[in-house]
Amino acid sequence: MNKFLLISIFSLLFSGVASVACPRGFSLVKSNKCLKLVTSKLKHLEAELECSYLGGTLATVKTAIDNRAITNLAASASATTVWLGMFCYTNGTTIPCYHDDDSGPVIYNNFASGNPKIQGAGGCVYMTTTGKTAGQWTSSICENVGMPYICEVPTTVADSTCTRNYNGYCYLPSHELKLPLSTYPNAQAACKANGGNLASIHSKTEIDYIRAMYKGTGISDLFIGAQSVKANTFKWEDGSAWDFDYRDPLSTTLGTCLLMDMYPNIINNGLWGATDCQNAFNFLCKRKIVAKSVEENEERYMDHPKNLAIPHELLDTSNCNTTLFMAPGVITSYGYPSTKPPKTSCTWTIVTLGPYRVGLYFTKFSTGSAVEIYDEYGGIINSPSGDQSPFYNLAPTNWVKIVHNSKSDTGHAGFSTTILPY
Ligand SMILES: *[C@@H]1O[C@H](CO)[C@@H](O)[C@H](O)[C@H]1NC(C)=O
Ligand SMILES: *[C@@H]1O[C@H](CO)[C@@H](O)[C@H](O)[C@H]1NC(C)=O
Repeated sequence: MNKFLLISIFSLLFSGVASVACPRGFSLVKSNKCLKLVTSKLKHLEAELECSYLGGTLATVKTAIDNRAITNLAASASATTVWLGMFCYTNGTTIPCYHDDDSGPVIYNNFASGNPKIQGAGGCVYMTTTGKTAGQWTSSICENVGMPYICEVPTTVADSTCTRNYNGYCYLPSHELKLPLSTYPNAQAACKANGGNLASIHSKTEIDYIRAMYKGTGISDLFIGAQSVKANTFKWEDGSAWDFDYRDPLSTTLGTCLLMDMYPNIINNGLWGATDCQNAFNFLCKRKIVAKSVEENEERYMDHPKNLAIPHELLDTSNCNTTLFMAPGVITSYGYPSTKPPKTSCTWTIVTLGPYRVGLYFTKFSTGSAVEIYDEYGGIINSPSGDQSPFYNLAPTNWVKIVHNSKSDTGHAGFSTTILPY
């Protein structure tokens, strides 16, 4: 028997061990997706938020098989239209739409003719599920009509002993394990004793899954599994890659361990800050459900690729006059931090993926004239000027425009803004 045959028999046996499953409430459809249809009608962003509490997004369509699975699921519950998990940003000759799950631009598509078309500032897309146009996609303003929706979460691995089963891992919050507040070393030891590690976090959807887990618990901070190895560099306890960063740009706390904030009633909670490892907090453990083959692990990480990586149009480090700047990232005033910046006007159009909204964290701020910040409806969010302590502004949707003219900025260093989806 040659060794290639041996290998393939081995992987066949091996993949048989890990049975693909969906979290409670989701069904596994033909195209190997975990979907859940919700028939109550919501506007696009509200539907996205509901899906995010489940650790997911609106359902994404990448193949004709996905398209049929979604059409059938919706039609079976008499939903005639459903929101899809994508967002289109500008009119173009190519398809200017991006999948909600951070997997990049939409390539397979089933747009009805004349679509996508971005009316006003709306870039949402819905699918018709009955009649002659069943399965076809149409552009829509996001917020003027409610419709049923389908949430999608990553597939996981069956484990009857696990109540919080997500993306191949079992999540074990310390308060559910009935463990006391602990220092970081004790927390990590307790996670080890439960077969895992303090949790590493690799995507915004995972952040949202964890936020939902702590909702209503009254817990406001928890240790997650990273320690800094040198200044400003953290390493996950479980050895996974530092491929996603949700540290609070305005945090001033010091320490070498990472704390996730869960302050109730804070719309952008879930951010991370440094803390002293000897403080005692609640904590979150994460246990891999079964050892999987290397290929499978790689696939899992591809479900949530690196830090929302959609190419930026990098002009200079300020990103002045970007036509479309995709969060996360940093923009600065032109010439920052020179106190004699060139006199010019700049406009920044900043977007994030469909499920999220734009968070602007001004880490440095000193200008002579106002920096105007607009929401997608042209409403002014803020127009700060002068010298300001660090502050943040949260946009109501996934689109923001910032306008600034540096002609009165002599003697001011300008501003630097970190952009994170929230
Ligand atoms: C896209 O095209 C529509 C219809 O032609 C137009 O009304 C809209 O303003 C365009 N949007 C952008 C962002 O160019
Ligand atoms: C940005 O665009 C404005 C308007 O087109 C232009 O006047 C300005 O010079 C541009 N700024 C830079 C730095 O390119």
